[in-house]
Amino acid sequence: MNQQQNDLLASVTRPNPVETEYNFSRIEGEIPRELNGTLYRNGPNQKTEPAAGYSAMHLFDGDALIHAITFDDGKARYRGRYAQTDSFKREQEEGEFVTGSLNFAPDRAIENPPPFVAPNTNIVPHGGRLFALVENAPPFEMDPKTLDSKGLWDYDGKMLGMSTTAHPKIDQKTGQMWIHGYQPIEPYIQLYVVELDGSVSLAESHDAPWPSMMHDFAITENYVIFPLGSIHFDLAPMLTGGRFSDAISGHADRNMMFGIRKREAGSEIKWIEGPSSGYMFHPSNAYEEDGKIFMDACTYEDPQALINSLDIIRSGGDPRGFIAHPYLYEFDLASDTCKESKLSDISAEFPRIDDRLIGYKNRWGYAGTAEPSDDAAGLFRRITKYDRTGGPSVNREVVEGQWVGEPVFVPRTPDAEEDDGFILNLVHDTNKDETAIDVLDARAIDSAPLARLWLEERIPLGFHGNWLQA
Ligand SMILES: [Fe+2]
Repeated sequence: MNQQQNDLLASVTRPNPVETEYNFSRIEGEIPRELNGTLYRNGPNQKTEPAAGYSAMHLFDGDALIHAITFDDGKARYRGRYAQTDSFKREQEEGEFVTGSLNFAPDRAIENPPPFVAPNTNIVPHGGRLFALVENAPPFEMDPKTLDSKGLWDYDGKMLGMSTTAHPKIDQKTGQMWIHGYQPIEPYIQLYVVELDGSVSLAESHDAPWPSMMHDFAITENYVIFPLGSIHFDLAPMLTGGRFSDAISGHADRNMMFGIRKREAGSEIKWIEGPSSGYMFHPSNAYEEDGKIFMDACTYEDPQALINSLDIIRSGGDPRGFIAHPYLYEFDLASDTCKESKLSDISAEFPRIDDRLIGYKNRWGYAGTAEPSDDAAGLFRRITKYDRTGGPSVNREVVEGQWVGEPVFVPRTPDAEEDDGFILNLVHDTNKDETAIDVLDARAIDSAPLARLWLEERIPLGFHGNWLQA
Protein backbone atom coordinates (compact mmCIF):
# COMPACT_ATOMS: atom_id res chain seq x y z
CA MET A 1 0.00 0.00 0.00
CA ASN A 2 1.37 3.41 -0.84
CA GLN A 3 0.62 6.68 0.90
CA GLN A 4 -1.94 7.67 -1.70
CA GLN A 5 -3.95 4.53 -1.05
CA ASN A 6 -3.69 5.01 2.70
CA ASP A 7 -5.05 8.53 2.36
CA LEU A 8 -7.81 7.23 0.15
CA LEU A 9 -8.97 4.62 2.64
CA ALA A 10 -8.98 7.22 5.36
CA SER A 11 -10.79 9.78 3.22
CA VAL A 12 -13.83 7.69 2.28
CA THR A 13 -14.60 7.13 5.97
CA ARG A 14 -13.76 10.68 7.13
CA PRO A 15 -16.66 12.19 9.11
CA ASN A 16 -18.50 15.29 7.93
CA PRO A 17 -20.88 16.12 10.77
CA VAL A 18 -23.13 18.59 8.93
CA GLU A 19 -26.88 18.32 9.44
CA THR A 20 -28.56 20.24 6.66
CA GLU A 21 -31.33 20.23 4.09
CA TYR A 22 -31.59 21.65 0.58
CA ASN A 23 -32.92 21.13 -2.92
CA PHE A 24 -30.37 19.66 -5.30
CA SER A 25 -29.16 22.26 -7.75
CA ARG A 26 -26.18 20.49 -9.32
CA ILE A 27 -27.73 17.72 -11.34
CA GLU A 28 -26.06 16.20 -14.41
CA GLY A 29 -28.55 14.52 -16.73
CA GLU A 30 -32.20 14.26 -15.88
CA ILE A 31 -33.93 12.60 -12.94
CA PRO A 32 -36.51 10.10 -14.23
CA ARG A 33 -40.02 11.27 -13.40
CA GLU A 34 -41.04 7.71 -12.45
CA LEU A 35 -38.64 7.93 -9.50
CA ASN A 36 -40.83 9.07 -6.60
CA GLY A 37 -39.82 8.22 -3.08
CA THR A 38 -36.93 8.45 -0.65
CA LEU A 39 -33.52 6.82 -0.58
CA TYR A 40 -32.37 6.55 3.04
CA ARG A 41 -28.67 6.03 3.72
CA ASN A 42 -26.70 5.33 6.89
CA GLY A 43 -23.06 5.03 7.91
CA PRO A 44 -20.67 6.00 10.70
CA ASN A 45 -20.14 9.77 10.87
CA GLN A 46 -18.66 10.75 14.22
CA LYS A 47 -19.76 14.19 15.41
CA THR A 48 -17.37 14.63 18.35
CA GLU A 49 -14.08 13.00 17.50
CA PRO A 50 -11.86 11.31 20.09
CA ALA A 51 -8.55 12.99 20.96
CA ALA A 52 -6.86 10.22 18.99
CA GLY A 53 -8.78 11.31 15.85
CA TYR A 54 -11.41 9.50 13.83
CA SER A 55 -8.77 7.34 12.16
CA ALA A 56 -8.17 5.56 15.48
CA MET A 57 -11.78 4.38 15.47
CA HIS A 58 -12.86 0.97 14.26
CA LEU A 59 -14.49 0.83 10.84
CA PHE A 60 -17.81 0.14 12.61
CA ASP A 61 -17.51 3.14 14.98
CA GLY A 62 -19.25 6.48 14.65
CA ASP A 63 -22.50 8.34 15.25
CA ALA A 64 -25.40 7.73 12.86
CA LEU A 65 -26.07 10.67 10.52
CA ILE A 66 -29.08 9.57 8.49
CA HIS A 67 -29.37 10.88 4.93
CA ALA A 68 -32.72 11.09 3.13
CA ILE A 69 -32.69 11.89 -0.59
CA THR A 70 -36.26 12.43 -1.73
CA PHE A 71 -37.15 12.26 -5.43
CA ASP A 72 -40.34 13.95 -6.57
CA ASP A 73 -41.41 14.32 -10.19
CA GLY A 74 -37.95 15.01 -11.62
CA LYS A 75 -36.67 17.01 -8.64
CA ALA A 76 -34.77 15.96 -5.54
CA ARG A 77 -34.03 17.26 -2.06
CA TYR A 78 -31.71 16.23 0.74
CA ARG A 79 -32.19 16.08 4.50
CA GLY A 80 -29.63 14.85 7.03
CA ARG A 81 -30.22 14.30 10.77
CA TYR A 82 -28.28 12.55 13.49
CA ALA A 83 -29.96 9.74 15.39
CA GLN A 84 -30.37 11.44 18.78
CA THR A 85 -29.70 8.50 21.05
CA ASP A 86 -29.20 9.19 24.76
CA SER A 87 -25.46 8.56 24.45
CA PHE A 88 -25.21 10.90 21.44
CA LYS A 89 -27.10 13.67 23.25
CA ARG A 90 -24.96 13.27 26.36
CA GLU A 91 -21.77 13.51 24.32
CA GLN A 92 -22.98 16.74 22.70
CA GLU A 93 -23.81 18.16 26.14
CA GLU A 94 -20.37 17.25 27.43
CA GLY A 95 -18.67 18.51 24.27
CA GLU A 96 -16.11 15.74 24.40
CA PHE A 97 -15.72 12.12 23.32
CA VAL A 98 -17.18 10.59 26.48
CA THR A 99 -19.58 7.78 25.61
CA GLY A 100 -17.71 5.02 23.92
CA SER A 101 -16.10 3.26 21.03
CA LEU A 102 -15.46 -0.30 19.96
CA ASN A 103 -11.73 0.30 20.05
CA PHE A 104 -10.87 2.33 23.12
CA ALA A 105 -12.14 3.94 26.30
CA PRO A 106 -13.78 7.40 26.25
CA ASP A 107 -11.46 10.40 26.55
CA ARG A 108 -12.98 11.26 29.90
CA ALA A 109 -15.07 9.23 32.36
CA ILE A 110 -18.51 10.65 33.15
CA GLU A 111 -20.99 9.79 35.87
CA ASN A 112 -23.94 7.60 34.95
CA PRO A 113 -23.11 7.22 31.27
CA PRO A 114 -26.17 6.25 29.23
CA PRO A 115 -25.98 2.96 27.29
CA PHE A 116 -23.78 3.54 24.25
CA VAL A 117 -25.94 3.38 21.11
CA ALA A 118 -24.80 4.46 17.64
CA PRO A 119 -27.28 2.99 15.11
CA ASN A 120 -24.99 3.62 12.13
CA THR A 121 -25.29 0.60 9.86
CA ASN A 122 -28.65 0.49 8.10
CA ILE A 123 -31.86 2.49 7.87
CA VAL A 124 -34.99 0.48 7.13
CA PRO A 125 -38.58 1.63 6.53
CA HIS A 126 -41.32 -0.83 7.50
CA GLY A 127 -45.05 -0.38 8.06
CA GLY A 128 -44.89 3.42 8.07
CA ARG A 129 -42.01 3.44 10.56
CA LEU A 130 -38.28 4.00 10.06
CA PHE A 131 -35.56 2.17 11.98
CA ALA A 132 -31.89 3.10 12.28
CA LEU A 133 -30.07 -0.13 13.00
CA VAL A 134 -26.78 -1.44 14.35
CA GLU A 135 -26.09 -4.96 15.53
CA ASN A 136 -25.16 -4.10 19.14
CA ALA A 137 -28.35 -2.27 20.12
CA PRO A 138 -32.13 -2.49 19.75
CA PRO A 139 -33.69 -0.67 16.75
CA PHE A 140 -33.76 3.13 17.02
CA GLU A 141 -36.93 4.63 15.59
CA MET A 142 -36.98 7.88 13.61
CA ASP A 143 -39.70 9.79 11.79
CA PRO A 144 -39.66 8.80 8.09
CA LYS A 145 -40.49 12.37 6.95
CA THR A 146 -38.66 14.65 9.37
CA LEU A 147 -35.95 12.24 10.59
CA ASP A 148 -36.84 13.36 14.11
CA SER A 149 -35.64 10.83 16.68
CA LYS A 150 -38.25 8.76 18.52
CA GLY A 151 -36.11 6.40 20.57
CA LEU A 152 -35.17 2.76 21.07
CA TRP A 153 -37.79 0.10 20.39
CA ASP A 154 -37.88 -3.08 22.49
CA TYR A 155 -40.28 -5.05 20.28
CA ASP A 156 -43.19 -4.00 22.51
CA GLY A 157 -41.55 -5.61 25.51
CA LYS A 158 -40.93 -8.89 23.69
CA MET A 159 -37.20 -8.38 23.16
CA LEU A 160 -35.23 -11.46 24.24
CA GLY A 161 -31.56 -10.64 23.72
CA MET A 162 -29.19 -7.69 24.01
CA SER A 163 -29.60 -6.40 20.47
CA THR A 164 -30.87 -7.08 16.97
CA THR A 165 -28.94 -6.68 13.75
CA ALA A 166 -28.96 -4.08 10.99
CA HIS A 167 -30.19 -6.55 8.37
CA PRO A 168 -33.88 -7.37 8.62
CA LYS A 169 -35.47 -9.16 5.69
CA ILE A 170 -38.84 -7.87 4.59
CA ASP A 171 -40.96 -10.46 2.79
CA GLN A 172 -42.95 -8.29 0.43
CA LYS A 173 -45.58 -10.99 -0.10
CA THR A 174 -46.49 -11.17 3.60
CA GLY A 175 -45.32 -7.69 4.61
CA GLN A 176 -43.49 -9.27 7.55
CA MET A 177 -40.14 -7.96 8.71
CA TRP A 178 -37.92 -10.82 9.87
CA ILE A 179 -34.99 -9.75 12.00
CA HIS A 180 -32.47 -11.58 14.14
CA GLY A 181 -30.15 -10.75 17.00
CA TYR A 182 -27.00 -12.36 18.31
CA GLN A 183 -25.12 -12.09 21.58
CA PRO A 184 -22.01 -13.63 23.19
CA ILE A 185 -24.03 -15.30 25.98
CA GLU A 186 -26.50 -18.16 25.67
CA PRO A 187 -28.87 -18.35 23.96
CA TYR A 188 -26.73 -16.95 21.18
CA ILE A 189 -29.42 -16.13 18.58
CA GLN A 190 -32.83 -14.47 18.65
CA LEU A 191 -35.46 -14.24 15.92
CA TYR A 192 -38.39 -11.84 15.60
CA VAL A 193 -41.21 -11.25 13.15
CA VAL A 194 -42.74 -7.79 12.96
CA GLU A 195 -46.02 -7.54 11.10
CA LEU A 196 -46.92 -4.59 8.87
CA ASP A 197 -49.10 -3.18 11.66
CA GLY A 198 -46.06 -3.15 13.96
CA SER A 199 -47.16 -6.06 16.13
CA VAL A 200 -44.54 -8.66 17.04
CA SER A 201 -45.86 -12.09 16.07
CA LEU A 202 -42.76 -14.17 16.83
CA ALA A 203 -39.92 -13.79 19.34
CA GLU A 204 -37.79 -16.91 19.86
CA SER A 205 -34.25 -17.82 20.88
CA HIS A 206 -31.84 -20.47 19.64
CA ASP A 207 -28.55 -21.88 20.71
CA ALA A 208 -25.69 -22.22 18.26
CA PRO A 209 -22.49 -24.29 18.10
CA TRP A 210 -20.49 -21.22 19.20
CA PRO A 211 -21.11 -17.50 19.76
CA SER A 212 -20.26 -15.45 16.72
CA MET A 213 -20.72 -12.08 15.09
CA MET A 214 -23.68 -12.84 12.82
CA HIS A 215 -24.07 -9.64 10.84
CA ASP A 216 -26.84 -10.76 8.50
CA PHE A 217 -29.06 -13.75 7.70
CA ALA A 218 -31.47 -14.95 5.02
CA ILE A 219 -35.04 -16.11 4.60
CA THR A 220 -36.84 -18.20 1.99
CA GLU A 221 -40.56 -18.74 1.52
CA ASN A 222 -40.58 -21.37 4.28
CA TYR A 223 -37.19 -21.21 6.03
CA VAL A 224 -34.79 -18.99 7.95
CA ILE A 225 -31.01 -19.40 7.49
CA PHE A 226 -28.47 -18.27 10.11
CA PRO A 227 -24.89 -18.23 8.73
CA LEU A 228 -22.46 -18.94 11.57
CA GLY A 229 -19.03 -17.80 10.43
CA SER A 230 -15.63 -19.07 11.55
CA ILE A 231 -15.37 -16.16 13.99
CA HIS A 232 -15.68 -16.69 17.72
CA PHE A 233 -17.17 -13.86 19.80
CA ASP A 234 -15.88 -13.90 23.37
CA LEU A 235 -17.62 -11.77 25.98
CA ALA A 236 -14.73 -11.62 28.47
CA PRO A 237 -12.55 -8.97 26.77
CA MET A 238 -15.57 -6.66 26.44
CA LEU A 239 -16.37 -6.93 30.16
CA THR A 240 -12.84 -6.00 31.16
CA GLY A 241 -12.61 -2.91 28.99
CA GLY A 242 -10.94 -4.64 26.07
CA ARG A 243 -11.35 -3.79 22.44
CA PHE A 244 -13.97 -5.30 20.14
CA SER A 245 -11.12 -6.64 18.02
CA ASP A 246 -9.89 -8.60 21.04
CA ALA A 247 -13.31 -10.16 21.53
CA ILE A 248 -13.52 -11.66 18.05
CA SER A 249 -11.09 -14.21 16.66
CA GLY A 250 -10.90 -16.06 13.37
CA HIS A 251 -10.79 -19.88 13.31
CA ALA A 252 -9.54 -21.26 10.02
CA ASP A 253 -9.90 -24.79 11.45
CA ARG A 254 -13.63 -24.34 12.05
CA ASN A 255 -15.95 -24.66 9.06
CA MET A 256 -18.88 -22.32 8.67
CA MET A 257 -22.16 -23.69 9.99
CA PHE A 258 -25.65 -22.87 8.78
CA GLY A 259 -28.61 -22.94 11.14
CA ILE A 260 -31.82 -23.62 9.22
CA ARG A 261 -35.31 -23.59 10.70
CA LYS A 262 -38.84 -23.35 9.39
CA ARG A 263 -40.62 -20.06 9.67
CA GLU A 264 -43.42 -21.51 11.82
CA ALA A 265 -43.40 -20.49 15.46
CA GLY A 266 -41.67 -22.98 17.71
CA SER A 267 -39.61 -24.57 14.92
CA GLU A 268 -36.38 -26.33 15.79
CA ILE A 269 -33.10 -25.24 14.28
CA LYS A 270 -30.91 -27.69 12.34
CA TRP A 271 -27.18 -26.96 12.01
CA ILE A 272 -25.48 -28.02 8.78
CA GLU A 273 -21.71 -27.83 8.40
CA GLY A 274 -20.32 -26.13 5.31
CA PRO A 275 -17.30 -27.45 3.44
CA SER A 276 -14.89 -24.70 4.48
CA SER A 277 -14.11 -21.97 6.95
CA GLY A 278 -14.93 -18.36 6.21
CA TYR A 279 -17.15 -15.45 7.12
CA MET A 280 -19.93 -13.57 5.41
CA PHE A 281 -21.27 -10.16 6.27
CA HIS A 282 -23.94 -10.30 3.60
CA PRO A 283 -25.95 -13.01 1.95
CA SER A 284 -27.50 -11.66 -1.25
CA ASN A 285 -30.65 -13.79 -1.36
CA ALA A 286 -31.93 -17.27 -0.61
CA TYR A 287 -34.75 -19.29 -2.13
CA GLU A 288 -36.13 -22.82 -2.45
CA GLU A 289 -35.98 -24.83 -5.66
CA ASP A 290 -36.26 -28.56 -6.41
CA GLY A 291 -36.47 -29.39 -2.71
CA LYS A 292 -33.24 -27.56 -1.93
CA ILE A 293 -32.31 -24.16 -0.54
CA PHE A 294 -29.94 -21.93 -2.46
CA MET A 295 -28.21 -18.92 -0.95
CA ASP A 296 -25.60 -16.65 -2.51
CA ALA A 297 -23.35 -14.47 -0.39
CA CYS A 298 -20.13 -12.47 -0.36
CA THR A 299 -17.72 -14.64 1.60
CA TYR A 300 -14.37 -13.79 3.21
CA GLU A 301 -12.09 -16.80 2.97
CA ASP A 302 -9.70 -15.74 5.78
CA PRO A 303 -11.66 -14.66 8.89
CA GLN A 304 -8.65 -13.54 10.93
CA ALA A 305 -7.29 -11.43 8.05
CA LEU A 306 -10.72 -9.82 7.85
CA ILE A 307 -10.71 -8.98 11.57
CA ASN A 308 -7.22 -7.49 11.31
CA SER A 309 -8.23 -5.32 8.35
CA LEU A 310 -11.39 -3.98 9.97
CA ASP A 311 -9.35 -2.76 12.89
CA ILE A 312 -6.92 -0.63 10.90
CA ILE A 313 -8.86 0.34 7.81
CA ARG A 314 -9.39 3.97 8.84
CA SER A 315 -5.78 4.48 9.76
CA GLY A 316 -4.72 3.41 6.30
CA GLY A 317 -3.25 0.07 7.29
CA ASP A 318 -3.18 -2.71 4.72
CA PRO A 319 -6.81 -3.81 4.41
CA ARG A 320 -6.21 -6.77 2.13
CA GLY A 321 -8.12 -9.15 4.38
CA PHE A 322 -11.20 -7.11 3.55
CA ILE A 323 -11.88 -8.98 0.34
CA ALA A 324 -14.94 -11.12 -0.22
CA HIS A 325 -15.97 -13.19 -3.24
CA PRO A 326 -19.39 -14.27 -4.46
CA TYR A 327 -20.25 -17.82 -3.38
CA LEU A 328 -23.30 -20.02 -3.91
CA TYR A 329 -24.43 -22.37 -1.12
CA GLU A 330 -26.75 -25.27 -1.78
CA PHE A 331 -28.45 -26.92 1.19
CA ASP A 332 -30.06 -30.35 1.03
CA LEU A 333 -32.24 -30.80 4.10
CA ALA A 334 -32.83 -34.48 3.31
CA SER A 335 -29.14 -35.32 3.66
CA ASP A 336 -28.12 -32.39 5.91
CA THR A 337 -25.42 -31.39 3.46
CA CYS A 338 -24.12 -28.10 2.13
CA LYS A 339 -22.25 -27.62 -1.13
CA GLU A 340 -20.50 -24.37 -1.94
CA SER A 341 -19.13 -22.96 -5.16
CA LYS A 342 -17.18 -19.80 -5.85
CA LEU A 343 -18.99 -17.80 -8.49
CA SER A 344 -16.26 -15.32 -9.41
CA ASP A 345 -12.66 -14.31 -8.74
CA ILE A 346 -13.71 -10.66 -8.84
CA SER A 347 -14.19 -9.44 -5.28
CA ALA A 348 -17.65 -8.19 -4.34
CA GLU A 349 -19.54 -6.67 -1.40
CA PHE A 350 -22.82 -4.94 -0.63
CA PRO A 351 -24.86 -7.43 -2.68
CA ARG A 352 -28.44 -6.36 -3.36
CA ILE A 353 -31.35 -7.63 -5.40
CA ASP A 354 -34.78 -6.40 -6.35
CA ASP A 355 -36.11 -6.35 -2.78
CA ARG A 356 -39.55 -7.53 -3.92
CA LEU A 357 -37.91 -10.96 -4.39
CA ILE A 358 -36.24 -11.34 -0.99
CA GLY A 359 -36.73 -15.00 -0.08
CA TYR A 360 -37.89 -15.96 -3.57
CA LYS A 361 -36.03 -16.91 -6.73
CA ASN A 362 -34.32 -13.94 -8.34
CA ARG A 363 -32.44 -13.71 -11.60
CA TRP A 364 -30.54 -10.47 -11.18
CA GLY A 365 -28.14 -9.28 -8.49
CA TYR A 366 -26.12 -6.09 -8.04
CA ALA A 367 -22.96 -5.47 -5.99
CA GLY A 368 -19.89 -3.28 -5.64
CA THR A 369 -16.92 -5.06 -7.21
CA ALA A 370 -13.15 -4.68 -7.57
CA GLU A 371 -10.55 -6.30 -9.80
CA PRO A 372 -7.37 -7.43 -8.03
CA SER A 373 -5.55 -4.75 -10.05
CA ASP A 374 -7.64 -2.03 -8.36
CA ASP A 375 -5.42 -2.55 -5.30
CA ALA A 376 -7.93 -0.96 -2.96
CA ALA A 377 -9.42 -3.69 -0.81
CA GLY A 378 -12.78 -2.80 0.65
CA LEU A 379 -13.40 -0.13 -2.00
CA PHE A 380 -15.17 -0.61 -5.30
CA ARG A 381 -14.76 1.05 -8.67
CA ARG A 382 -17.73 -0.64 -10.28
CA ILE A 383 -21.26 -1.76 -9.81
CA THR A 384 -21.65 -5.22 -11.29
CA LYS A 385 -24.94 -6.73 -12.37
CA TYR A 386 -25.03 -10.53 -12.14
CA ASP A 387 -27.27 -12.90 -14.07
CA ARG A 388 -28.02 -15.99 -12.01
CA THR A 389 -29.01 -17.91 -15.14
CA GLY A 390 -25.39 -17.82 -16.26
CA GLY A 391 -25.44 -14.83 -18.57
CA PRO A 392 -22.48 -12.44 -18.58
CA SER A 393 -22.00 -9.94 -15.77
CA VAL A 394 -22.24 -6.29 -16.78
CA ASN A 395 -20.22 -3.51 -15.17
CA ARG A 396 -20.77 0.16 -14.55
CA GLU A 397 -17.31 1.61 -13.88
CA VAL A 398 -16.65 5.07 -12.47
CA VAL A 399 -13.63 7.15 -13.44
CA GLU A 400 -10.26 7.04 -11.69
CA GLY A 401 -10.47 8.50 -8.20
CA GLN A 402 -14.14 7.67 -7.73
CA TRP A 403 -15.54 4.86 -5.57
CA VAL A 404 -19.04 3.48 -5.38
CA GLY A 405 -21.27 2.49 -2.47
CA GLU A 406 -24.02 -0.09 -2.12
CA PRO A 407 -26.37 -0.31 -5.13
CA VAL A 408 -30.07 -0.01 -4.24
CA PHE A 409 -32.60 -1.19 -6.83
CA VAL A 410 -35.84 0.76 -7.31
CA PRO A 411 -38.56 -0.72 -9.54
CA ARG A 412 -39.81 1.63 -12.27
CA THR A 413 -43.37 1.02 -11.05
CA PRO A 414 -44.52 -1.12 -8.12
CA ASP A 415 -45.48 -3.96 -10.47
CA ALA A 416 -42.63 -3.61 -13.00
CA GLU A 417 -40.71 -6.76 -13.93
CA GLU A 418 -37.55 -7.70 -12.06
CA ASP A 419 -34.67 -5.45 -13.18
CA ASP A 420 -37.02 -2.92 -14.83
CA GLY A 421 -36.06 0.10 -12.80
CA PHE A 422 -33.19 2.11 -11.43
CA ILE A 423 -30.02 1.58 -9.43
CA LEU A 424 -29.22 4.31 -6.92
CA ASN A 425 -25.70 4.40 -5.59
CA LEU A 426 -23.38 6.76 -3.80
CA VAL A 427 -20.19 7.88 -5.56
CA HIS A 428 -17.28 9.21 -3.53
CA ASP A 429 -15.00 11.42 -5.62
CA THR A 430 -11.56 11.69 -4.06
CA ASN A 431 -10.37 14.14 -6.74
CA LYS A 432 -12.98 16.73 -5.83
CA ASP A 433 -13.61 15.51 -2.26
CA GLU A 434 -17.30 15.41 -3.09
CA THR A 435 -20.17 12.95 -3.05
CA ALA A 436 -22.81 12.26 -5.68
CA ILE A 437 -25.83 10.01 -6.01
CA ASP A 438 -25.98 8.22 -9.35
CA VAL A 439 -29.28 7.16 -10.89
CA LEU A 440 -28.61 4.28 -13.29
CA ASP A 441 -30.95 2.47 -15.64
CA ALA A 442 -30.77 -1.08 -14.27
CA ARG A 443 -31.29 -2.56 -17.71
CA ALA A 444 -28.45 -0.46 -19.17
CA ILE A 445 -26.22 -0.40 -16.14
CA ASP A 446 -23.05 0.04 -18.21
CA SER A 447 -24.35 3.27 -19.73
CA ALA A 448 -23.76 6.74 -18.30
CA PRO A 449 -26.00 7.59 -15.34
CA LEU A 450 -29.44 8.93 -16.20
CA ALA A 451 -28.74 11.51 -13.54
CA ARG A 452 -25.92 12.38 -11.18
CA LEU A 453 -26.87 14.52 -8.17
CA TRP A 454 -23.98 16.29 -6.43
CA LEU A 455 -24.48 16.75 -2.70
CA GLU A 456 -23.68 20.14 -1.23
CA GLU A 457 -21.73 18.45 1.57
CA ARG A 458 -19.54 15.39 1.19
CA ILE A 459 -20.79 12.40 3.19
CA PRO A 460 -18.71 9.34 4.15
CA LEU A 461 -19.21 6.38 1.82
CA GLY A 462 -21.08 4.62 4.64
CA PHE A 463 -22.76 1.24 4.66
CA HIS A 464 -26.38 0.61 3.73
CA GLY A 465 -29.52 2.23 2.40
CA ASN A 466 -33.07 1.50 1.38
CA TRP A 467 -35.80 2.94 -0.77
CA LEU A 468 -39.27 3.95 0.37
CA GLN A 469 -41.74 4.38 -2.47
CA ALA A 470 -43.79 7.59 -2.25
FE1 LIG B 1 -24.11 -4.86 6.53
